[in-house]
Amino acid sequence: MFIYFRRIRKLKCVQLTATCFVFSVVMLYWDQLDNNVVSHMRSYSYRYLVNSYNFLNKSFSVSREVAESFANHRYLINRRHKCRVKDLLLLLMVKTSPKNTERRAAIRCTWGNETYARSELGVNVRVVFVLGVHPKESDRAQQQKQLDQEDREYGDLIQQDFVDTFHNLTIKLLLQFQWAHSYCSHAQFLMSADDDVFVHMPNLVHYLQEMGRRDVRNFWIGRVHRGAPPIRRKDSKYYVPYEMYPWSTYPDYTAGAGYVVSGDVAAKIYQASLTLNATLHIDDVFMGILANVMGVSPQEHAYFSGEGKAPYHPCVYHKMMTSHGHVKDIHYLWKISTDPQLQKANYGLLDDLYCQVVKITLFCKPYYFNTYPCKAAFL
Ligand SMILES: *[C@@H]1O[C@H](CO)[C@@H](O)[C@H](O)[C@H]1NC(C)=O
Ligand SMILES: *[C@@H]1O[C@H](CO)[C@@H](O)[C@H](O)[C@H]1NC(C)=O
Ligand SMILES: *[C@@H]1O[C@H](CO)[C@@H](O)[C@H](O)[C@H]1NC(C)=O
Ligand SMILES: *[C@@H]1O[C@H](CO)[C@@H](O)[C@H](O)[C@H]1NC(C)=O
Repeated sequence: MFIYFRRIRKLKCVQLTATCFVFSVVMLYWDQLDNNVVSHMRSYSYRYLVNSYNFLNKSFSVSREVAESFANHRYLINRRHKCRVKDLLLLLMVKTSPKNTERRAAIRCTWGNETYARSELGVNVRVVFVLGVHPKESDRAQQQKQLDQEDREYGDLIQQDFVDTFHNLTIKLLLQFQWAHSYCSHAQFLMSADDDVFVHMPNLVHYLQEMGRRDVRNFWIGRVHRGAPPIRRKDSKYYVPYEMYPWSTYPDYTAGAGYVVSGDVAAKIYQASLTLNATLHIDDVFMGILANVMGVSPQEHAYFSGEGKAPYHPCVYHKMMTSHGHVKDIHYLWKISTDPQLQKANYGLLDDLYCQVVKITLFCKPYYFNTYPCKAAFL
C-alpha cells in the first residue's frame, strides 16, 4: 500500500513538472506562436475564400521611368549571341554570385552541360550564369579579373553592374527576364535555378518536350507557395515591413530554387516588370506579383523541390526534376541520373510496386515537409 502511494506521488510530481515546463515554454514563445498561427490563418483564409489580388496592380504601378530605374543596370559581361540557335528548347538561367566559381564549374560538367543535352538528349539547351558584382569593394577588382577570365574560357556569364547581395535578388530576377527578352525570346521554355540546385536534365528535358508538343501556354511550374503570409519578424531575412506590403497574404508563387515558365509567360513577366515598383527584395514573391498582374498562376509539380534535398534513392531519381541544397554531391547525382544502365532499367510491375512503397515511406511521414509532398509517391 505504501509503495503504491509513493508511486502515485512520484507520477503526479513528474506530471506536474512536465506541465509546468510546457506551460512556461508556451508562455515564453506565446508571442511568436500567436503571431505565426494568426498570420497563417488570416493568410490562408484570404487565399482560399477571397483569392483576389486586384490591389496589386494598382498599388505597385509606377511610371515607366521609375520601373526602368530598378532594372537598367549596365552590362559588365554579356553574351548576346549565346542563344543563336534554332529550335531552342530551354534557356536555363542559373542565379550565381561572383565567388561561387566552383559551383559554376561543377554545373558546367554536370546538369549544365549543353553538349550532353545536344548529343544524348537531342535538344538544344543554353545555360547562362547571371550575377552582379562582388559585395566587398576591396575584393571587387581582383574578382572581376577572374570573372572576365572565366567568361573568356566558357562564354556563359551575364553580369550587370549591381551589388550581388541577398537584398538585390529582385534585380537579378529582372535581369533574367530582361536578358531573355532582348537576346533569347525564341526559347520555348525558360528556367531559373539557384546554383546549389541539382537539376535532373534527362527527366526535365523529356517532360518539357512533351509540354512543347502540346504547345502549352501560360505555363509556370515549380514548388508552389499558396497563401503565404509576409514575415513581420524583424530578425528574419525575409522580413517585409508593412509599408512595403501591407496585406496579409502574398499571391501564389513558386520557390525560387528552381522553376520553369513557357516563352509566352517570360514575355508577360518582362512586360509587367516595365510597370511595377520592384523594391520588394524577395525575388520569388515579386515574381508572383508580376505574374499575378498578368493573370498567370503557377502549377505545382510534385518533383520540383523548394528548400529541401531529395532523399538518396533510385526510386526517387527515376522521377525527380530538381532538388535543393547540393554542392559536393552534384557529380554523384549526375553520374547516377545519366547512367545508361539505370536509365534503361525496365520498370516492371513489381519494381513499380516496390518504388511505390519506398516513396510512401520516404514522403508520407508526418511532419515531413522538406522535399517532395506525399502525393509525389503516387505519380
Ligand atoms: C559534356 O558532355 C559531353 C557528351 O556527353 C562529354 O563528352 C563532355 O566531356 C561533357 N563536358 C564536360 C565539361 O564534362
Ligand atoms: C544592392 O544592395 C546593396 C546592399 O545590400 C545596396 O547598398 C545597393 O544600393 C543595392 N543596389 C544596387 C543597384 O547595387
Ligand atoms: C516603391 O515602394 C517603396 C516601398 O514599398 C516606396 O517607399 C516607394 O515610394 C515606391 N516608389 C514609388 C515610385 O511609388
Ligand atoms: C494595371 O494598371 C495599369 C494602370 O494603373 C493599367 O494600364 C494596366 O492595364 C493594368 N494591367 C493589368 C494587367 O490589369
